[in-house]
Amino acid sequence: MKVETKRQMYEGSPWCLGRVDSFEINKPRLITLLDHDYVIWKDQEGNLNALDNICPHAGGNLAKGGYVVDFKGKNCLACPYHGNKVQFLGDGKVIIEGNISSQNIQQVLPLQVIDGLVWTYGVHWQEQNGELVSEPIEAKLPIPDYSKISFLPEYHSHLHLKEINHIYSFSESVNANILQVTWNTHDGEHFAGTHYDSMLTKDLKIDNLTQDENKLSWKLFLYKRKDKAAKRNKMSPFVNDVMIQCFNTFLPSLFILTNEIAKGKLFVAVGYVYPESPTKTKFCLDGYFNFEYTWWHKLLKFPQKGNNFRDHLLFEDMSILNNLYPTFNQKIKLKNDTPAKLAMNYLKNWV
Ligand code: FES
Ligand SMILES: [Fe+2]
Repeated sequence: MKVETKRQMYEGSPWCLGRVDSFEINKPRLITLLDHDYVIWKDQEGNLNALDNICPHAGGNLAKGGYVVDFKGKNCLACPYHGNKVQFLGDGKVIIEGNISSQNIQQVLPLQVIDGLVWTYGVHWQEQNGELVSEPIEAKLPIPDYSKISFLPEYHSHLHLKEINHIYSFSESVNANILQVTWNTHDGEHFAGTHYDSMLTKDLKIDNLTQDENKLSWKLFLYKRKDKAAKRNKMSPFVNDVMIQCFNTFLPSLFILTNEIAKGKLFVAVGYVYPESPTKTKFCLDGYFNFEYTWWHKLLKFPQKGNNFRDHLLFEDMSILNNLYPTFNQKIKLKNDTPAKLAMNYLKNWV
């Protein structure tokens, strides 16, 4: 990989691939990370395995049709092309015509599961004498410890994902680089533009902005429009007159947004991004509540309506991101650009 590409993909950052329970047992899944494909599968015991997706025999695509089989009590992945002859163990060893290789043949994508989320630093691939040579990337930043952040400063409870209810997950690839996506996730101003018809924002304000290396936090106040169109808007019941959203981000991979949707009732959005390539980024978001839906919430179809509302917001973001120009001369600044500006400065100095 060229130095420029390494920098564009922020090598050394930890990347979150999703909630561990979003991976189904014995269902191989394709992941593209830092311009390379991997197959991830969860075995019967619930352990995750991740390997280079390219079969070293004849280039079979392991995630597309690979199937999980048992070899002498060991859970392994059979290649879709010549699977009766070739199977892969999670540690990189390969079973070739019934014999386990003495060496690791297939590159492993090292994973760590922390607080229910799957993290990796990825693997660096480089061409040497016409061959691809790979090695796991060394950590430059620690895996974010978000357990120390409060939901909202006035709530003294810290963020433990296992103690709140997971209600929603979203994940999509966008045709934008990670810098562009980071701008969006740190952007106060776009609430009154991109989300004009959904968040119904008239004005906004940023408060308590702090930065500690790669960690940024701020409070965003969104003031609701009062015009007739806003009152009639079907999103209206989801938006308070003043919405206070608390952001805590760990550049470049994780951002956490909390907001009190009603007295004592909190919504927590855990968002994470990772570079699939220098021009493509995976954007994921998990939603949590600190309360459970009551029977009358369900009767009024609150869960579905809430999820539709979030889908709508994310669709608005995805549409903008998929159509951005990556290079431009910045001649205009807006006052609530600041968190985005700080994030851009931090990432532009990545080496
Ligand atoms: S291509 Fe995978 S075993 Fe032949
Ligand atoms: Fe947005």
